[in-house]
Amino acid sequence: MSEVLSEWAWQVAAAELSVALPRRWTHSQGVTARAADLAHMLGKNADMLRASAVLHDVGYAPRLAFTGLHPLDGARFLRDVHGADERLVRLVANHSFALLEAEERGLRDVLEAEFPLPEDQLLVDALVYCDMTTTPNGALTTAEERVAEIVGRYGADSVVGRFIRRASPEIFAAVARVEAALAAQPR
Ligand SMILES: [Fe+2]
Repeated sequence: MSEVLSEWAWQVAAAELSVALPRRWTHSQGVTARAADLAHMLGKNADMLRASAVLHDVGYAPRLAFTGLHPLDGARFLRDVHGADERLVRLVANHSFALLEAEERGLRDVLEAEFPLPEDQLLVDALVYCDMTTTPNGALTTAEERVAEIVGRYGADSVVGRFIRRASPEIFAAVARVEAALAAQPR
C-alpha cells in the first residue's frame, strides 16, 4: 500500500506542531496510530485517513491560527500553502463535526462554501473515531471520556464546550458506525 501522502503529511504536521505545540503533536501522533488500526478496513483510503489524522489539528499552530476555527485555518493552510489534495483538505476542514463549531463561531457559511463535506462517510467517520478515542496525551480512551474531558477542559459554556455538547450524539453515532464496521471485518 502506498504511503506517499501520509509520509508527506507527517513532515508537514511535525514542522508546524512538534516545537510550537508539543502536546497537540503528541495527540496527533496518537490519532495517527489509531488510523493504522483501521487501515485494513479502509483499503485504498488508508493512506488518506493516516494523512488526515496527522494533519487534522495543524490549524492550531499559532502562526496559522487566523480565524480561531482550527479546522478552517488548517484547511486553508494546506490548500493555499501546500496545494494539498482536495479530499485531504476537505477532511481536515470538516474533522469531528467542525461545522457545528463553525456555527458557534459564526463561520458555518464560510466553512461550508470553501470546504464541502467529504462524500465518503466511512472515511469521515473513521477520522472522528481516531480523534475521539485518543486523549490529548495520545493515549487510548472512549468517546464518552473524551467528550467529558473536552467539556471539563474548556468549560461547558465556552464556545468549544457548547460545540462538543451539541456534537456529542453525532460523535457517538460515528464511533458506533466504525465499531460496527470493524466488527463486521473478516478476520
Ligand atoms: Fe481538532
